[in-house]
Amino acid sequence: MINQPLQRTIEHYIAHPELSTDFTVQAKALAAFFDLRDKLETGELRAAEPDPATSTGWRVNAWVKQGILLGFRLGVLEQSASGSLSFVDKNTYPARQFTAQEGVRIVPGGSSIRAGAYVARSVVCMPPMYVNVGAYVDEGTMVDSHALVGSCAQIGKRVHLSAAAQIGGVLEPVNASPVVIEDDVLVGGNCGVYEGAIVRQGAVLAAGTILTRGTPVFDLVHGEILRSTPEMPLIIPENAVVVPGSRAVNKGKGAEWGLSLYAAVIVKYRDEKTDLSTTLEDLLR
Ligand SMILES: CC(C)(COP(=O)(O)OP(=O)(O)OC[C@H]1O[C@@H](n2cnc3c(N)ncnc32)[C@H](O)[C@@H]1OP(=O)(O)O)[C@@H](O)C(=O)NCCC(=O)NCCS
Repeated sequence: MINQPLQRTIEHYIAHPELSTDFTVQAKALAAFFDLRDKLETGELRAAEPDPATSTGWRVNAWVKQGILLGFRLGVLEQSASGSLSFVDKNTYPARQFTAQEGVRIVPGGSSIRAGAYVARSVVCMPPMYVNVGAYVDEGTMVDSHALVGSCAQIGKRVHLSAAAQIGGVLEPVNASPVVIEDDVLVGGNCGVYEGAIVRQGAVLAAGTILTRGTPVFDLVHGEILRSTPEMPLIIPENAVVVPGSRAVNKGKGAEWGLSLYAAVIVKYRDEKTDLSTTLEDLLR
């Protein structure tokens, strides 16, 4: 699966100083990208492949990812339609068409943004996702696959709502205040933020973190337990790094049975390592 000429070509163009200005360079780079795309579709090339000589048993073909990013860089926005639905995406990544003969089952699904929702320019929506009425999604935010932006939820700038992140709405069940996710927050995969919780800017919710009005949040850094009150929603402080944890039940049957309950834990406040772990790929945007 080594394809050195194509690898060299991709590596040449990804670093080419005139990639964004010179049409001839762009055309050649595009040809290389389409060659890579075809070979990826046939399985001839892979981004990573088994290799017993490596410590993990897998060799990563970093140049293939570079080539994929090149496709994003070179693509221009194009509109397409299906019935009354319309879509806009980079023309280098249209939806693949399959025939029954290929034996792949493609289950229908899709994305929808309901009337009455605000979605700023430069937001990226990966299918399937849903933005409900009254929601506000600000610039540069990524709404990843299976993410839900519930009714009236307020999502700031450059937020990453990772795959399957669920941001609860105010309509059902009825909640007084919407969930607020401020600027530059990372909501990890499978997180759930409900019942008016506020996540202050720069905070990171590790994959699987759930926040509701009833969730106690143990701040290991400041030695405090954060809770909602009848007047105040649960508030996650700025730059907090929150991970899913548990707390012992220390009374009644729960204690007798040695049970523990879910708790969220602030393990630290954002540092350089967190920035590294949460760095987003600009070329995808
Ligand atoms: C939170 C996250 C960003 C890591 O941030 P980080 O600053 O690099 O965190 P560190 O690795 O320094 O971890 C700090 C502490 O928290 C713990 N921790 C980190 N992530 C954790 C998690 N998800 N669950 C439980 N504990 C976790 C670490 O073990 C460490 O504890 P220790 O010091 O006792 O060993 C990462 O775990 C995460 O969840 N990323 C989101 C992944 C995701 O959903 N991607 C989207 C895909 S679409």
